[in-house]
Amino acid sequence: MRLRNVKYAKELIHSYPGYVILKPKNHKSKWQELFENNHPVEVEIGCGKGKFIYEKALNNPHINYIGIEKFDSVIVRALEKLILEPLDNLKLVRFDATHITDIFEENEVDKLYLNFSDPWPKNRHEKRRLTSPRFLKRYHQILKDNSMIEMKTDNYALFEYSLMSFNHSDFIRIIDLSLDLYKNLPSSNIQTEFEMKFVEENKTIYYLKAKLKRS
Ligand SMILES: C[S@@+](CC[C@H](N)C(=O)[O-])C[C@H]1O[C@@H](n2cnc3c(N)ncnc32)[C@H](O)[C@@H]1O
Repeated sequence: MRLRNVKYAKELIHSYPGYVILKPKNHKSKWQELFENNHPVEVEIGCGKGKFIYEKALNNPHINYIGIEKFDSVIVRALEKLILEPLDNLKLVRFDATHITDIFEENEVDKLYLNFSDPWPKNRHEKRRLTSPRFLKRYHQILKDNSMIEMKTDNYALFEYSLMSFNHSDFIRIIDLSLDLYKNLPSSNIQTEFEMKFVEENKTIYYLKAKLKRS
């Protein structure tokens, strides 16, 4: 059953090359050309089944959105949303963001979202955390001056680690944070799939917003 699902995912992804970009490296420095406009480019790493990035794109037609997800079996759910209701300002990329500098040029990205990223709790996996110093260095390369990184998580250990990692960085300044986002929920908040589940379970959601300085 699982194998059939993976095969189905692969086949569907390959049937929609206009929605899921199969060779993202070819678009480095040229994402706006792909969208056929000069609108800002915002990226979610680990978009999962795509609820957040799809609704962002639906609500903000003058922003280009790119959802990056490393598994076919997950990104296919985001693709299904696009097939049902196509959006010109959303592209999906099946890619491991460890190599994100291979697909975006310096200064190419206007904003980055990290929603409920995998916590990788073991010390030996620290480098895989999307807020580890080595990822922050990559973000520094691709993000514009004064651009924002927004993060939400239910995992306090990851949140604390990310606060420290952001705080130790020379080029990132935390400008807002919440230790309980739902105590004072902004009307602009868009729930992710994981967020919906965690909120139902009464889990606390942590939030931070940081500004990136290029020099
Ligand atoms: C816990 S899920 C959260 C999904 C979604 N953001 C949400 O909040 O519903 C984390 C997702 O990030 C993806 N992911 C983790 N590391 C990644 C990486 N290096 N590159 C791309 N996707 C990644 C995983 O495959 C998974 O689908």
